[in-house]
Amino acid sequence: MDMTQPDSLFSDRTAPLISDHFARDAEAVVFTGSCLQLLGEIPDKSMQLVVTSPPYNIGKEYERRLNLDAYLAQQAEVIRECARVLSERGSICWQVGNYVHDGAIVPLDAVLYPIFRESGLVMRNRIVWHFEHGLHCSKRFSGRYETIMWLTRPGKDYVFNLDPVRVPQKYPGKKHFKGPKAGEYSCNPLGKNPGDVWDIPNVKSNHVEKTEHPCQFPTELTDRLVLSMTNPGDWVFDPFLGTGTTIASAVRHGRRGAGAEIVGRYITIARERVASAMEGTLRVRPMGRPKYDPLAAGNSLTQSPWADHESAEEKQLRLMQNRARYNHENR
Ligand SMILES: C[S@@+](CC[C@H](N)C(=O)[O-])C[C@H]1O[C@@H](n2cnc3c(N)ncnc32)[C@H](O)[C@@H]1O
Repeated sequence: MDMTQPDSLFSDRTAPLISDHFARDAEAVVFTGSCLQLLGEIPDKSMQLVVTSPPYNIGKEYERRLNLDAYLAQQAEVIRECARVLSERGSICWQVGNYVHDGAIVPLDAVLYPIFRESGLVMRNRIVWHFEHGLHCSKRFSGRYETIMWLTRPGKDYVFNLDPVRVPQKYPGKKHFKGPKAGEYSCNPLGKNPGDVWDIPNVKSNHVEKTEHPCQFPTELTDRLVLSMTNPGDWVFDPFLGTGTTIASAVRHGRRGAGAEIVGRYITIARERVASAMEGTLRVRPMGRPKYDPLAAGNSLTQSPWADHESAEEKQLRLMQNRARYNHENR
């Protein structure tokens, strides 16, 4: 299955249908206002997947900084409502980093976890999302991961489709070396489980998905959650929608998406992105594309000005060879 291509349920439609309010038969809902208002319109147990990255209360342009207790109380209200609208076999994926105060960090997953437990949910994975770009700290190690808390209702009956999100094995040619299957290939031809550490580039300046929002999800991350935790036609909900990445992933894969956002400019961007996703024209970084490797790509900035190195001609030749090899491998 080619995950990079849209898999729309709605391909016979002539104009994209994006509703302002929740309606069961809508394809996508982009609500202007607080998520609690939109949640008030959503029936119990109707959402198969909730995916979000809430404000972290660190003073981004779209948030009013609260003390930690007030922030947690606000989050608790939204989490309880998300648990109410979650379907019996559904999942919640809450993606968070750290709250930072006076140079001390509070990992938000640690302090939010009890709220999810009180809402009757259990954790299936604490996924570490590793990325390489961010602030350079001088008084602690620079933060290069955040986490995704994946929760469901208790019991074994929750939707989890591994096959659409398998990744290539490191050694697909490996064979069983003993037993009844000796000599046969030991790998699943569809690939392996991607594991719980995800190395996905974050959306910074050179990323094809970059908008003016300071912290949007990469589509590859939401695609992986949508494909593994929902089936076609299911509803996916994002209470803190930002630029609409969650809904874009949902509709690209034939699901329905709903979300709320309070900043007008982000609403406009979200609507444009969801409409492009419906039309199959949204620019996304394809799932599974290898990360940009500046050394292998022959980027001249990888040459340290302080190191002893080769002559100008040798350097130019080496960079050209690297670039040609990189372009060939990433055609
Ligand atoms: C971390 S960003 C989410 C970015 C999003 N994941 C994306 O891919 O673009 C959080 C967003 O929540 C919005 N927000 C803050 N409080 C809100 C509320 N009560 N209801 C809805 N949205 C809210 C902010 O304006 C911000 O755009």
